[in-house]
Amino acid sequence: MFRFKKIVFLFIVGMMVLTACGGAATTAAPTEPPPTPEPKAGLDCAPNCQYKDLVVGFLQTGSEGGWRAANTASFKETAEQLGLTLKFYDSQNDLAKQVAGFHQFNQDPEVNVIVLAALETTGWEEVLQEAMDAGKVVVIEDRRIDAPENLYVTYIGSDFALEGRKSAEEMCKLLEGMKGKKVWELVGNVGSSAAKDRGQGFREGMGACGIEITNSQTGNWSATEGKQVTEAWLKESKDVQGIFAQNDEMGFGAIEALKEAGLKPGTDVKILSVDATGNAFKAMLEGDLNVTVECNPLLAPQVYEAALKAANGEELPKWVPSQEGVFRSDDPNLEEITAGRTY
Ligand code: AHR
Repeated sequence: MFRFKKIVFLFIVGMMVLTACGGAATTAAPTEPPPTPEPKAGLDCAPNCQYKDLVVGFLQTGSEGGWRAANTASFKETAEQLGLTLKFYDSQNDLAKQVAGFHQFNQDPEVNVIVLAALETTGWEEVLQEAMDAGKVVVIEDRRIDAPENLYVTYIGSDFALEGRKSAEEMCKLLEGMKGKKVWELVGNVGSSAAKDRGQGFREGMGACGIEITNSQTGNWSATEGKQVTEAWLKESKDVQGIFAQNDEMGFGAIEALKEAGLKPGTDVKILSVDATGNAFKAMLEGDLNVTVECNPLLAPQVYEAALKAANGEELPKWVPSQEGVFRSDDPNLEEITAGRTY
């Protein structure tokens, strides 16, 4: 009897151990995180979506100058031409507002496409994941972002680093033969891809001719701030041979500051800016600006086309870079070129 009880006792203990092991095995934390789901291929209308089926929520950065005005106009005019619905959101150059606008579009049942011109490169994962969960097509325009590529369908915009390298190459030509090669840099809003990459590209190229950046500060893409920063620098020293303005607007501010300090922009100090807006051509014709490196703002046709393709379930390259040129004040055809410009 005692032996029988002992066998039963050992059997029960054995079963408990096995059950415990089995339970532990099934509830143990997985070693690999579950894979992030790929975005849903297309909208409900796929594969026959047309432009009229698209309701696009566009998160614009703000209205900081001529380039941005041309970019906004491109989105509004092209939406009308194609017959799609555009819901325009002005982030007023305020990141918190832009993130709030993104949440708003994610929750808007009418919006099926979201286009983002990001104020900063980082901090987008949460809203992008929210958009993916809500089945929206997300296209990044103008400013690249640092986020996993599976969270958006494509990025359509410039190669800002290349613009920076072209700027360095042009500045080298402008300063050729000069003893001093001191350059001041007016930077865009510091967290943006345009400012980061243009700055990096310029630094990559400037060593070729021994440029020295002696001042670098943000002017937040604005003519007023570009002027204030240049004025402050000029009070400290006038030993400068070139100014690299990361956009035309800040270049216009620098031009004004130099004139007020009794210097001749374009001659005493070489000025190079990025964008190639209409006012930059005017400044080149007047001899105030030496070079403008193009950054194409007319991106809406490509962006809407990409959104439609993605709506129909098509896979797209993760980056479609814009084709851009360089324009110089000493170009003998400058007047003709200026007349043919569309922004
Ligand atoms: O992202 C493009 C930049 O943004 C332009 O160079 C600048 O003018 C604009 O504000």
